[in-house]
Amino acid sequence: MPVEQPLPKTKHGLRALPWDSEQKPLMLAPLQGLTNRATRSLFIDWVRPDVVFTEFMRVSSVGRKHLSKNDLKEAVSTTGGVPLVAQLVGNNSQALVKAAEHAEAAGALHINLNMGCPYGRTASGASGGAMLQYPEILAEMLPALRHAISGTFSIKLRAGYKDPGEIFALLPLITDADVDFLVIHPRTVTQKYAGSADHRITGRVVRELSIPVIANGDIRTAEQGLRILEETGAAGLMLGRGAIADPLLFERLRKQHTEEPTEAETALMLHRYLKELLRLYSELFCGERQILDKVKNVLSFIDTPGFSKRITKMKRVHNLADLSALIEAL
Ligand SMILES: Cc1cc2nc3c(=O)[nH]c(=O)nc-3n(C[C@H](O)[C@H](O)[C@H](O)COP(=O)(O)O)c2cc1C
Repeated sequence: MPVEQPLPKTKHGLRALPWDSEQKPLMLAPLQGLTNRATRSLFIDWVRPDVVFTEFMRVSSVGRKHLSKNDLKEAVSTTGGVPLVAQLVGNNSQALVKAAEHAEAAGALHINLNMGCPYGRTASGASGGAMLQYPEILAEMLPALRHAISGTFSIKLRAGYKDPGEIFALLPLITDADVDFLVIHPRTVTQKYAGSADHRITGRVVRELSIPVIANGDIRTAEQGLRILEETGAAGLMLGRGAIADPLLFERLRKQHTEEPTEAETALMLHRYLKELLRLYSELFCGERQILDKVKNVLSFIDTPGFSKRITKMKRVHNLADLSALIEAL
């Protein structure tokens, strides 16, 4: 029988969470194709999320580094002192451990494991949300990652693969692996984005765990977000599509911006947002086609009432000059 080793609390003393303990942090969600270092810096300069995440970085089980050069750069790219959490997705414990070590060596302070992505099946097997089906692999992977990671180790997960109750059977694994915090998006993996996030599950997870639980999913207005905080007892909120549609959602949740802007205020908001996005994306990406595609990705999440015709026109442009003119006409 192998002798059970107690998990070290940390390699370097106490692990500091990426937010102050008296704060209810508002986090910008990882969104593949949207939350690159340019988007993060736009949000940080404008509405300053308390914590930001990288999009998931796929950990390859082949090669020495397991993360690309660009991913290693992305894992430490934040501005204004806002804590950045580097998110990994993969299914090979050893490769994930190595990738986490490389990310930490590059300067990452907070590592997150993606156990929620519904498109996680790759040629090399299940990963992301599909991992929820394999508690026996998680029972080995989570402690291995915990041992390897000096900074915080968190998990972002869905409520289950097929059944939203599956998460409750996994909570002991999460507790045993001394995970620092959880982000829960209470849908199942097979549900993808259909239906709605069931934050009654978030509330139950909060009650069953002693670590901070961050609520994520379908927060589109400040009123919804504040209600979820109150009803679930969550330690904070993570905003995804709602923030991409309306960056001021962060400010509305802090009660620093009205929930009911006039049309002129909304036009001003969209003008600032899209002009800045276009400027930053023109610096980060290469070539007119790529810049346009990346901005259109963001536009496809903007559903501001009263602006749908103008946004549709922007999605149809074929060059940056036309896009810029439409933004100026807002
Ligand atoms: C386009 C897109 C890309 C996403 N990429 C990621 C990702 O890289 N990592 C991750 O953990 N979740 C990812 N998600 C899930 C979101 O982080 C979030 O959990 C989900 O959208 C629910 O939150 P929301 O309703 O606030 O958007 C993605 C979602 C979308 C729509």
